[in-house]
Order: sequence, then C-alpha cells, then structure tokens
Amino acid sequence: MDKKQHPEATILLEWYDASRRILPWREDPTPYHVWLSEIMLQQTRVEAATDYYLRFLKALPDVASLAAAPEDQYMKLWEGLGYYSRIRNMHKAACQIMEHYGGTMPGTAAELSKLAGIGEYTAAAIASIAFGEAVPSVDGNLLRVFARLTSYGENIKDKAAKAAATEYYRARIPGDRPGDYNQALMDLGATVCLPNGAPLCDRCPLSGLCKAHADSREQDFPVVPAKASRKVEKMTIFLITDGTRVIIRKRPDQGLLAGLYEFPNISGALTKSKAEGFVREMGLEPAGITKTPAARHIFSHKEWHMTGYLVQVPDLDPVRKADPAVIAATTQELRDVYSIPSAFSAFLKILLSQE
Ligand code: ADE
Repeated sequence: MDKKQHPEATILLEWYDASRRILPWREDPTPYHVWLSEIMLQQTRVEAATDYYLRFLKALPDVASLAAAPEDQYMKLWEGLGYYSRIRNMHKAACQIMEHYGGTMPGTAAELSKLAGIGEYTAAAIASIAFGEAVPSVDGNLLRVFARLTSYGENIKDKAAKAAATEYYRARIPGDRPGDYNQALMDLGATVCLPNGAPLCDRCPLSGLCKAHADSREQDFPVVPAKASRKVEKMTIFLITDGTRVIIRKRPDQGLLAGLYEFPNISGALTKSKAEGFVREMGLEPAGITKTPAARHIFSHKEWHMTGYLVQVPDLDPVRKADPAVIAATTQELRDVYSIPSAFSAFLKILLSQE
C-alpha cells in the first residue's frame, strides 16, 4: 500500500505545479537530458545554461554520440561554461556506459554514482527525475531551505549538515513524484528562499512551517564559515599576429583549464620593453606592440589579473619552427575549432574586433 503523502510534500508539489519554471530538460526528461542539465547546472545558472544545453544536444543528442565525439568537439561545446573537468568526466562516463552498460544509463543512484563525475547529488537528481527513485538530491539550494526550515545552527558546509538534510528530506520525499519534489525544492531555493539573507517569505508556500521564519531569524541561516580570500596571480598575455593568424598553444593535460587553448602568457605584469624582450625570445621580430586594456578573471580559488599586449609581427613561421606545439590559428578557427576558455575572453574579443 502507498504511504500517505507528507503534508509538507503536498504543499510543495501544489506550489510546484502552479509555479514551476519551464526549462527545456523538464519537457523531455530522458536520463541523458537530465544528466547533461545537472552537470551544466553544477556551476552555471539556469539562465546561462539553457542555450548551451540546447546547442549541446543538437550536436551530441545521446550517450553514444557523446562517447564517440572527439575531444575538441565536446570541449568547444563547453566553451564559456568553465569547470571543464565536468565535460571531460561526462565524456569518460559516456564511454563507461557504452562499454559496461550496453549504451543504456543505469537507473539507480547507487549505480549512477559509480560513473565518472557523477557524485551523490547528481546521481540522486538523475535517479529521481529520470527514473523515479525516491532519493533526495541535496545541493546548495536544498541545504539552505533545510537550514531555514529547521533553524539548523551548525556549519552548513560540514558533512553532518548534508546528512541531516538528507534524512529530513528522505522522510518527506513522495514515492510517486520524487523528481518533482526535488525540483520543487531547487526552484524554491532559486526563486524564493534566496541566498545571502534575502528570502521572499511572503511568497513561500512553506513559510507557515518554517522555524527560522517563525522566529524572524531567516537572516541567521544557513550558518556559513568565513571564506578564505582568493590568491591573486598577475600575468601578461600576448596576442601575437601577422594580421591573418594569431599564436595560440594547448595548455597541459593536467591542472587548471587542462587541454584547452590559450594565448602565450607569462607570470607577472611585464612592462612594454620586457614584453618586447619576451617576444624576441620566442624568435619573433615585433613590428608593433601596443598595450591592451587589462582584464581579470575570477576562479573559485584564485584570480588572474592580466596585462595584455597586441604584437604585430611580419612572419609567424620562426616560432612555429622553434616550438611545434604552437599553433597559428585564423580568427575563424578561434571561433569554430579551438576552445579558448572564458578566462581569456577579453583578449579574444580584442583580436576578433581587429578583423
Ligand atoms: N539546478 C540543478 N538542477 C536543477 C533542475 N533540475 N531544475 C532546476 N534547477 C536546477
């Protein structure tokens, strides 16, 4: 016999049916669609992810096509989303699915979490939304909602908080609509129970059940530890062009932005004459060198503060001979073939505006 639905789930699902966000992966929640959306949404806002999601699916519509895709293609489709290990792992997992599961995604959170890049949260999201398994998918939104509902007074980043939230939701998640329940909580967190002390309690279907709201202490939850400050790295970026092509190179296969393409760069903020020296050391003869506007890129753990130089050279061939890893790419190739991470997008724009 079916268990009776928890009253909190009933309220939440009614709210979801009336207010849910219309999102492309919700229209056709196949396991692959849900998987792709969840991986994209791990570090990217819904509004930003939607176009990427549709474009990705058009190019690689299923597990088999992703598994067979060349690295440059799936990296290019990810360009601008950042956190590229997400797509590398997704490709690896697609190969695992082809090899070990006959091309069909496994249907339980326990099996899904054995695949590359699929952690506890993602496994639960896919299992509940695409397969109807009653497991809570506890992400930052669900943690925050839980912390406010229960006035959870411990550090929300601790493992214990996740365990407590999981237990709380496990007791409420309905067996017939687990995916909708999880997504209702995600939507509630994203549109009503907002972070940074700004919840819209007058719009919240659960405000009558919320301990923090009852005590007028919404601002006090979740309890978050003070953030460590980000390390600043200064660097100089070189846009070296013969007027038709520009020098890029592939980053190492390991580490930050692994395997993506970049403009030659060096650590430190170089003066113009030092920058000119660097170009000469590459075996090139600068015919003109101008400083570009500076740019910054903020990663989760560090910041790049970048000085840039646009360098005109009559001939790119000497550097290509000296270093075969260097590529002289046309602007068309920068658009279509090589994946330049958004950390360099200010400089890419400068180059493209030269056309
Ligand atoms: N964030 C992560 N997954 C989501 C989903 N399925 N719907 C809305 N927001 C999300």
